[in-house]
Amino acid sequence: MPEIDPAMDGNPPAAPKRSAAPPSASASTPRVIAMLNQKGGVGKTTSTVNLGAALAEAGQRVCLIDLDPQAHLTFHLGIDPESVQRSMYDLLTDPECYASDAIINARPNLDVILSETDLAAAESELALVENRQTILRDKFATLAQSYDVVLLDCPPSLGLLTLNALSLAGEVFVPMQAHFLALQGVGKLLETVGLVCQSINPNLRVTGIVLCMHEQQTTLAKEIVNDLDAFFADAATQDVPWSTCKVLRPAIRRNVKLAEAPSFGKTIFDYEPWCPGAIDYRMLARELLVAWGRPIAPLDSAKRQATPDSAAAPVAATIESKPATAAARAPQVVVVAAPVESANAEIAAMASH
Ligand SMILES: Nc1ncnc2c1ncn2[C@@H]1O[C@H](COP(=O)(O)OP(=O)(O)O)[C@@H](O)[C@H]1O
Ligand SMILES: [Mg+2]
Repeated sequence: MPEIDPAMDGNPPAAPKRSAAPPSASASTPRVIAMLNQKGGVGKTTSTVNLGAALAEAGQRVCLIDLDPQAHLTFHLGIDPESVQRSMYDLLTDPECYASDAIINARPNLDVILSETDLAAAESELALVENRQTILRDKFATLAQSYDVVLLDCPPSLGLLTLNALSLAGEVFVPMQAHFLALQGVGKLLETVGLVCQSINPNLRVTGIVLCMHEQQTTLAKEIVNDLDAFFADAATQDVPWSTCKVLRPAIRRNVKLAEAPSFGKTIFDYEPWCPGAIDYRMLARELLVAWGRPIAPLDSAKRQATPDSAAAPVAATIESKPATAAARAPQVVVVAAPVESANAEIAAMASH
């Protein structure tokens, strides 16, 4: 993975635009989701950016919140943290900074609250502040109602910044890789969410596992996924905050394009909109929208025309998969089981162009 440098394409990072206007009120309750795993390098930031971009592409009003002082999400979107006037650090530490001051518009339908390295100091600076675990909720909860989806990119630790994410969130997605040690990590994480529920956010639920960098051919990965499915099927009958959790489909396959895109300050849809990684995140977004009972906007004509040669390469292969009849000219394309089939038929048809 090359070092993150948003200017690597030769262009300076785009100057951030303030969100032009507060987004229009949405009819549905926003899904406020913390992307959480105390382990680093598991795909939290990649999933926050690209799932968020896929949801925005499907017509959802999305806000991404970068809570990691490493600011990888900020770089991934091609924004220089130095150019940002108000960031998460200001929001947490300055009583005069409001959420609307810190929101900028990064892409159509996609707003963001950015991070910077100063954020690392927030924890110690806030040590004596009484409501320090809920500042983000106190400041952002009202504005959150203006979005359809809010995704919070958490740092790889369970400190104050993560607690702020968990106090605002209604649910948790756990991005993870399917290997043995990851299972232990998930157990620990579930315990933590249980504790947070008892203290600052009784409504918090773990609702999804996002399988990242998935190697579906390996026996180990298959076994781990089976174990996870069985674990959550068992939990469904228990009174625990993860009783509705599911291993989300499709899994996100390992795809080098996903690792390259942040170096150019691009989402996967800016960079390679029809590579396997883009298709996996697009299908995951659509599967979620179907599960949430949300409408899915058709892809715009520019996106259709951007269908590249790479679409002819083998693309989706999901855990629960079957051939898509709509993709007769691209037999490699498969879609997940109904009712998502119809939602993803458009993707399959486009990949066959
Ligand atoms: N599906 C994938 N295929 C290939 N590389 C990936 C994939 N998902 C993430 N990566 C890469 O793995 C590394 C860690 O991912 P990242 O999202 O930054 O993890 P985290 O935020 O959990 O630390 C990054 O270099 C990222 O580009
Ligand atoms: Mg990260």
